[in-house]
Amino acid sequence: MAKVLEGKIAVVTGAGRGIGRGEAIALAAAGAKVVVNDLGGTGDGSGSDAAPASQVVKEIKEQGGEAVANFDSVAEPEGAERIIQDAVTNFGRIDILINNAGILRDRMVYNMSNDEWDIVQKVHMYGHFYCLRTACKYMRQQKWGRIVNTSSSAGLGETFGQANYGAAKEGIVGLTRQTAKDMARYGVTCNAIRPSAGTRLTMNPELIENWKRAGRGDLVERLEALNPEDIAPFIVFLCTDAAANINGRTFAVGGGEISLYSEPVKERTLFKQKGRWTLEELLAIAPNTLGKGLENPGLDTK
Ligand SMILES: NC(=O)c1ccc[n+]([C@@H]2O[C@H](COP(=O)([O-])OP(=O)(O)OC[C@H]3O[C@@H](n4cnc5c(N)ncnc54)[C@H](O)[C@@H]3O)[C@@H](O)[C@H]2O)c1
Repeated sequence: MAKVLEGKIAVVTGAGRGIGRGEAIALAAAGAKVVVNDLGGTGDGSGSDAAPASQVVKEIKEQGGEAVANFDSVAEPEGAERIIQDAVTNFGRIDILINNAGILRDRMVYNMSNDEWDIVQKVHMYGHFYCLRTACKYMRQQKWGRIVNTSSSAGLGETFGQANYGAAKEGIVGLTRQTAKDMARYGVTCNAIRPSAGTRLTMNPELIENWKRAGRGDLVERLEALNPEDIAPFIVFLCTDAAANINGRTFAVGGGEISLYSEPVKERTLFKQKGRWTLEELLAIAPNTLGKGLENPGLDTK
């Protein structure tokens, strides 16, 4: 791989396995020095283990790259600060942040507990924000930076039983757009991906069973065929100067596919010159205008 990131310092969260591992290895192969963060817990976020992050650091070093491990949780503000600080302490700066760490606690929305809701927001939404906020303080001073956040197609309604996860992942898209606005003047870009790959997270037996029971065996087969390492080259590209004009955008990435999402625009408008719409007027007009032809997604056969 071309050393397009020679001299750059990167942090990848949740880089001990899956998509993050591939990203950390690819960034190192492109010349970046990398902080490989991973708490090393189970797929639902319990426990911790230093082995996954240490193993990826070992792999990077064996391939001639430079890396250090960090075992903090992105979900704790102090932990997130230490993750970014590790880049500065070990390598002198922080140029690139790949927010990737993630967990799942799937449950149909009517049965979801407070804990299942909270921990998913903590790891995804708060974890992204905590790491990004600290990184932005440094990037603002040095007037260069690249941030790639990790969303999901879950928030687009592709799956079910993921109200907590879908909410967090769409929150991350909003965070991405707003960070892009705040940081553009400092030479920093912030984009998001919605990846697809067969990993511990997606190939977990309970999840597979649930999806199959709900008639979504096709999702399992699609993800199983997609290698998590396929995501990494596009991440490296977003971190180069060649991508300086790409900011606040969201991409689907998986296998050989990289798609740019359109940004939401108003699709249909009812506009009243004076005053507000009455319910009677809406009942008469909205079904054949705003609501016309809309399909109920929850009743899709797929
Ligand atoms: N695999 C997919 O198809 C897919 C689809 C959409 C989104 N994603 C997102 O991609 C990201 C990577 O997922 P993956 O599929 O590679 O899963 P994975 O389970 O293989 O890897 C996630 C890593 O994050 C680490 N992690 C979890 N909580 C952490 C915390 N609090 N602090 C630090 N590290 C933590 C885990 O230990 C694990 O190594 C996640 O954000 C996930 O939501 C994946």
